[in-house]
Amino acid sequence: MKKLVVLTGAGMSAESGISTFRDAGGLWDKYPVEQVATPEGYAANPQLVTDFYNERRKQLLTVKPNRGHELLAEMEQFFNVTVITQNVDNLHERAGSSRVIHLHGELTKVTSSWQPNNPNYIKELKPEEYEVKIGDVAADGSQLRPFIVWFGEAVPMIETAIDYCEQADVFLIIGTSLNVYPAAGLLNYVPAHVPVYLIDPKQVPIASGRPVHVIQKGASEGMVELKRLLVE
Ligand code: APR
Repeated sequence: MKKLVVLTGAGMSAESGISTFRDAGGLWDKYPVEQVATPEGYAANPQLVTDFYNERRKQLLTVKPNRGHELLAEMEQFFNVTVITQNVDNLHERAGSSRVIHLHGELTKVTSSWQPNNPNYIKELKPEEYEVKIGDVAADGSQLRPFIVWFGEAVPMIETAIDYCEQADVFLIIGTSLNVYPAAGLLNYVPAHVPVYLIDPKQVPIASGRPVHVIQKGASEGMVELKRLLVE
């Protein structure tokens, strides 16, 4: 089967009711990114940051995958699909996608403050544990922190993501403004002969000027069109 590699961003989950970051009224308008998504912000006010992620985590219990997530999962009937997501929600998994690489971490997990990327300390929370408190500790005795890649931190999954991009037969981008690196640079690892599709209701500038088949629609409608183009 041909390999379909998909890079998704916040727009993928917009129709599920999760705010994007940089659209008007997006999350970074409401919460200063320096305060809630940097190691410095966490050091300055761990309670604020813990509350912010507790809220995001509890929102997962009220939202569900949209048709776009579902159609992407259905593409596994026709392709060997790898989803590389910048999203920290679990909607791709819940829609049935079987290989999901989370570049920016996962809301459903917590980890050690001292060694956030040590697999021994990464823990999946059950829904009844979604409210993390200051004083809850990891197995190494450090405060439990969200398993989220904050600005200024390394992106450990990027190497794995690059490997998949280099092997792609078809590449698809959905719902990302391509503002944040290294994720935004993944397209540069996709071989030149590989067709690239992009689904987004807004125009997203492609820095390299590489030709891209643009489907200027939301994720659900866009996936209907993509499916028509690729498999019908
Ligand atoms: N369907 C598809 N795309 C949509 C939809 C929709 N219904 N609604 C909005 N979009 C698009 C917007 O047009 C925009 O291009 O989703 C994109 C969202 O862009 P951002 O808010 O910048 O989100 P993203 O690119 O995922 O951000 C990357 O930045 O702060 C961080 O770590 C956070 O992972 C995030 C990273």
